[in-house]
Amino acid sequence: AAEADLSGRHVVVSAGGTREPLDPVRYLGNRSSGKQGYALARTAAARGARVTLVSANAALPDPAGVDVVHVGTAVQLREAVLKATADADAVVMAAAVADFRPATYAAGKIKKKDGQEPEPIVLVRNPDILAEIAGERPRPGQVVVGFAAETDDVLANGRAKLERKGCDLLVVNEVGERKTFGAEENEAVVLGADGSETPVPHGPKEALADIVWDLVSQRLT
Ligand code: C5P
Repeated sequence: AAEADLSGRHVVVSAGGTREPLDPVRYLGNRSSGKQGYALARTAAARGARVTLVSANAALPDPAGVDVVHVGTAVQLREAVLKATADADAVVMAAAVADFRPATYAAGKIKKKDGQEPEPIVLVRNPDILAEIAGERPRPGQVVVGFAAETDDVLANGRAKLERKGCDLLVVNEVGERKTFGAEENEAVVLGADGSETPVPHGPKEALADIVWDLVSQRLT
């Protein structure tokens, strides 16, 4: 990667996993650690970009030289990402965003009542932030990157997802019991809307991040 090839650019990265509250003490969440998104933010800053990192519940220190916005839910993440995206050259959605949230929030802790069947949890759909940004392109020429975790038919599912979301690049990870979540290392294929396929061998999350920025950099106008 060329030194400072992202200087003068503003990039937005989302990281971590959203938490969708049921009541003041419980939430629906996921296993994303935020490490890949933080690696993307650090490497972009090292390459000269102004970086806005929208972080959902990652237990990681704020990277130096990066503007960090902390959020909890998918709705909050959407608001923060859209705000930062207005003048961004590239957006990388590395966060694991809950597809659904509980339809209602109980202001007081939900209690178990003796002899009563548990209540089902009713869910409603969250907005698809990646599809929204890819569809609207708040700034012309903006490069939009998504992530996908797949357990099988990784390439076919990834290609279908890239088309459905309308993004320029999709980083597809194979996930399984011990793979990806919380790990220091990653292995992926980066699919391009131009039909390209860039395999990324098993290695540190920084190495994948640098390849993503190489591919973004080539597409910036
Ligand atoms: O559809 P799926 O959740 O597999 O898509 C993953 C990609 O879409 C990730 O880049 C994630 O950040 C993004 N996403 C989103 N809004 C959602 C769900 C996922 O932006 N509601």
